[in-house]
Amino acid sequence: MEADGAAAGAAALGQRLAEGGQGHVLRFWPELGAEARRALAAELRDMDVAEINRFFRRARGDGGGAAEVTAAGLDARMQPVPRDVLGSASRDRELLPRWESRGLAEIAGSRVAALLLAGGQGTRLGVPYPKGMYDVGLPSRKTLFHLQAQRLRRLQQLAEEQHGTHCNIPWYIMTSGRTMESTKEFFVKHHYFGLKKENVIFFQQGMLPALGFDGKILLEEKGKVAMAPDGNGGLYRALGAHGIVEDMERRGVQSVHVYCVDNILVKVADPRFIGFCLEKGADCGAKVVEKTNPTEPVGVVCRVDGVYQVVEYSEISLATAQKRGPDGRLLFNAGNIANHYFTTAFLKDVVNTYEPQLQHHVAEKKIPHVDITTGQRIQPEKPNGIKMEKFVFDIFQFSKKFVVYEVLREDEFSPLKNADSQNGKDNPTTARHALMSLHHCWVLNAGGHFVDENGTRIPAIPRLKDANDLPIQCEISPLISYGGEGPCHCPGPPFWSSFVRCITGST
Ligand code: UTP
Repeated sequence: MEADGAAAGAAALGQRLAEGGQGHVLRFWPELGAEARRALAAELRDMDVAEINRFFRRARGDGGGAAEVTAAGLDARMQPVPRDVLGSASRDRELLPRWESRGLAEIAGSRVAALLLAGGQGTRLGVPYPKGMYDVGLPSRKTLFHLQAQRLRRLQQLAEEQHGTHCNIPWYIMTSGRTMESTKEFFVKHHYFGLKKENVIFFQQGMLPALGFDGKILLEEKGKVAMAPDGNGGLYRALGAHGIVEDMERRGVQSVHVYCVDNILVKVADPRFIGFCLEKGADCGAKVVEKTNPTEPVGVVCRVDGVYQVVEYSEISLATAQKRGPDGRLLFNAGNIANHYFTTAFLKDVVNTYEPQLQHHVAEKKIPHVDITTGQRIQPEKPNGIKMEKFVFDIFQFSKKFVVYEVLREDEFSPLKNADSQNGKDNPTTARHALMSLHHCWVLNAGGHFVDENGTRIPAIPRLKDANDLPIQCEISPLISYGGEGPCHCPGPPFWSSFVRCITGST
């Protein structure tokens, strides 16, 4: 009886897949054991094949709609960010205290949340665990998750001290099918890094199958589909699926800071950024760093036909990338670092109204798969298929009041993308050096100086000039300083040797 039921279920599944032109995924069914069959059936049961086919057609640009912005003439339709929507941490220094105190007041009122995008696979870094668990080799050996958690703790403390109230910054962490369990276990093992468990909220983004160039679903194994997370813009669907916006509303959250796991310098729930966005009455904001090299492969925030979006370097001509404004800076210089502000109300509109309008971007990838005719596992040497992803910035177009906040790269942005062995950019070494160089600066700015092991003062050369320069081994615990405030008043030795690590405060 039971066997009959299973057979009928498999037949129905087979028919549904065949109707969607994806019947081949059951090609090896007869070879699979009972457990493998159950697992594959479970994977396919929730898969909306018609929707996947639709996504593919739209992403490829033949399903109507706007599709990828690759249209000729994009260059001519682009306009830079106007000064009146732009705030700058370096050019508007006199306004920083006002923005900071506005942001801290919001945090003190528990109206601010942080939202971490941690669902990526980190393929370039190449470790078999979530990127947030990576230790770049700081003196403290803290991981990215640890640093971020401590910054949140310090920020709560600063807001509480200034406003005399108790507050919480809920921390929403988006993971994917590939990172959820290990991320949660890591937080449990580390006692949530001193945060309250109820204020750390995990939720999972969706996954989509990888497809061949012909739109056919690829198999990772004979009984397993090649699945990948649906991009960091999968956030919006996941917010809806898991009732996250309702959770924010229940907690009284009105402002949300969304950021990527891999930026070691990230100022989580940055009160200046939050305060700036609030002062401007924005529903959506992007933190950017200045793009100084025209050929740097970074997307820029700009307007296209009057609507804000991120335009990728590959979508525009070199001539456009090289254009300069009257101040000598690149005209399109607002380098996107995936660091955003949203009001909860805007997120609610996105989830309820706009999300279905978002289209997938196509990334051509080398996807290991099982050859459907021979059953052999193939490790391709050139791209053989696509992954479909949405991007977190895809919703800028729906904003009614969009603002841009520019910060210094050396203060706030050093992403961990590659392994040390791969190339000299955005790797554990550059991330570690960026953090220590910044903390060195904090000490100098606070009037401190460094001495060597003989007590001789070390000349102050605050910034590293290139990747081969070695920074002073200086690391300041986020529990002591969130953004450079007060490192001279901390407990411990007054100043620090260039050879000995500098750790202040408890772990
Ligand atoms: P990247 O695009 O750099 O991807 O993600 P990645 O997974 O970290 O690394 P590669 O490309 O596989 O080497 C930027 C941010 O977006 C998150 C990542 O976790 C990172 O914080 N992300 C990416 C998601 O949350 N979900 C995704 O599906 C993709």
